[in-house]
Amino acid sequence: MTPVITRSSELRRQVADWRAEGRRVALVPTMGNLHAGHLALVERAAGLAERVVVSVFVNPTQFDDPADFERYPRTLEADRERLAAAPCDLVFAPTPAGLYPFGQAAAVRIEVPGLSEGLCGAWRPGHFAGVATVVCRLLNVCQPDLAVFGEKDLQQLRVIERLVADLQMPVDIVGAPTVREADGLAMSSRNTYLSKDERQRAAGLYRTLCRLRDAIAAGEPDLKGLETTGKDWLAAEGFVPEYVEIRRWRDLGPPEGDDDLVVLAAARLGKARLIDNLRVRGKRKDER
Ligand code: PAJ
Repeated sequence: MTPVITRSSELRRQVADWRAEGRRVALVPTMGNLHAGHLALVERAAGLAERVVVSVFVNPTQFDDPADFERYPRTLEADRERLAAAPCDLVFAPTPAGLYPFGQAAAVRIEVPGLSEGLCGAWRPGHFAGVATVVCRLLNVCQPDLAVFGEKDLQQLRVIERLVADLQMPVDIVGAPTVREADGLAMSSRNTYLSKDERQRAAGLYRTLCRLRDAIAAGEPDLKGLETTGKDWLAAEGFVPEYVEIRRWRDLGPPEGDDDLVVLAAARLGKARLIDNLRVRGKRKDER
């Protein structure tokens, strides 16, 4: 089984030893309950570094809803088993007190203005501050050469890229593509909240993004109108839509005049909140 370390000091020593031997070290931060999407990040990390650390920590500061934090699946033993078959050298599973030594209320917090507002930030107050706060701690404790994050959580990836750039942290942030189920549903730990019937309908989110992508690629100039239409499509499929937005892929800025875009959406289905996004590349017809 892959060894597990809980103490920050031990992790730091191990990573320092590896780096002293000239090995590149990658960190893959997760909240556990690992699925094929997480494992794809581990594979990606192993392609870029000789040593891979996977952190498993359900971070309390990024949950805007305490009930969501309580019910979040914690499956460390099963996660270890999954990682035993993956190119992972070490699991870092800190305790809350280990990662927040002065307690959560007194914790130094990291805010990433701008990028954290809008999209999911508008629906989950404080969420991205919690993510930036914990990722900053994980990077600082581990001190890897690089860290891998999923494009499934694109706003999170952009927030972390900015965090590292603005604080001039010596680490490369690598994005990895979204892994999907056969019907297109993006893999997520939260998919386990779906009933059988909801699970069947859940791929409607991906299908909606595909329809929007195709409409943009076909030259539809009215992007605001498409966002509204997308929400209508989701509602018609039984979702409670939060947002459907078309943004610039690179930095999630406004889409005007760009030919590398992304359609992002969040919607509730029963107890689950699902998010997904799809990149739209190439010159749009109206701009050719
Ligand atoms: P978690 O939801 O466990 O996700 C861990 C990493 O896996 C994130 O980078 C996420 O984008 C990626 N991921 C999740 N589902 C994916 C999929 N279907 N395809 C590809 N990658 C996927 O995201 C978090 O945890 C936390 O916010 C964290 C960054 C660990 C900070 O607490």
